[in-house]
Amino acid sequence: MIDETAIDDRLERARDRLAARGIDALVCFPSSNMYYLSGFEDEPMERHLFLFVSPDRALFLAPEMYDHQIRDESPIDDVRTWSDDEDPTALLASIGDELDLAGGQLLVDDRMWALFTQDLRKTFPDASFGLASAVLEDLRLRKDDAELEALREAARISDAVSESVRELGPDAVGLTERELAREIGRRLEEAGGDGVSFETVVGSGPNGARPHHRHGERTIESGDPVVLDFGTWTAGYPGDQTRTVVFDGDPPAEFEDVHDAVLAAQQAAIDAVEPGIEAREVDRAARELLEKRGYGDRFVHRTGHGVGLDVHEPPYITSENDRKIEPGMVFSVEPGVYLEGEFGVRIEDLVVVTDDGCERLNDSPRTWRPLDADS
Ligand code: GLY
Ligand code: MN
Ligand code: MN
Repeated sequence: MIDETAIDDRLERARDRLAARGIDALVCFPSSNMYYLSGFEDEPMERHLFLFVSPDRALFLAPEMYDHQIRDESPIDDVRTWSDDEDPTALLASIGDELDLAGGQLLVDDRMWALFTQDLRKTFPDASFGLASAVLEDLRLRKDDAELEALREAARISDAVSESVRELGPDAVGLTERELAREIGRRLEEAGGDGVSFETVVGSGPNGARPHHRHGERTIESGDPVVLDFGTWTAGYPGDQTRTVVFDGDPPAEFEDVHDAVLAAQQAAIDAVEPGIEAREVDRAARELLEKRGYGDRFVHRTGHGVGLDVHEPPYITSENDRKIEPGMVFSVEPGVYLEGEFGVRIEDLVVVTDDGCERLNDSPRTWRPLDADS
């Protein structure tokens, strides 16, 4: 549940931006944007459910069955409903008349289904359309104290489970990736999390060389490097953390050097973070280090992504992004090296940007060795 004053503050800032840019309305669909601006959350579905925010109004167009639910969960009390035996586009047109949208400028939720953008275009053929992120991205980039608290708690749970899973040691050998992923999910819930924030990655042996391999039927073997990438939700905010471990036995010959290089690349990127630099400088720090170590061409993704109500959101830490880093931003730093057919290594922590650098939200051990071994 988002605090009412936080919603009022977000709406006010959104409205100011709309007015300043001459935008007539934002039209949100069930998504993190709708939740951010209203406190009401639902899954996308085939029924028309929109939140309109204009420079001086905020109102819902919603199925009748949602009336009480929205009023309970959101401080926005202007809820216009349509029933299942009505055509919702008639209500859409009348709201358009009221907000004077006919020839206006609308920003639609980036994640609105095409089905509904088509209705908006048909209902307001003379309007011009853009994406809600043009206004909301900046608003959501800097996290407030409540958001940071939720992200810290999600990171704490991921760390605790990361450490406890390592302690399986040789007991993890013989489990399938799917069995271990289920066990991770169970432990995240037990530690106070609310489900997994994305499909848990258990990439054992050669499967670890596919950065977004999730989990399959492969059995974990002695000596396998295993990429473990997971997180859980707390208060609507996700964890996202990766460690690459060897539960038992001796890893492949090149593994230790690769792991050491990825760890150094992650540290170089984190050392580079400070307010005022561009996102691409953080990416460059990790990439240059891996290039020097001879693995540059095996680092096949960006260095990180913002984390907030969505697991992946701006700022994206890519080689091209010139967005300036600001205090309050939260993003992942997750370089990786992937040797197809052999193994992969990724190490990921979330960081929050401070006034003079950054603070890691994750602090579980980054070694690949079992925790009781010398490292
Ligand atoms: N699990 C996907 C990521 O770390 O971005
Ligand atoms: Mn991850
Ligand atoms: Mn990530």
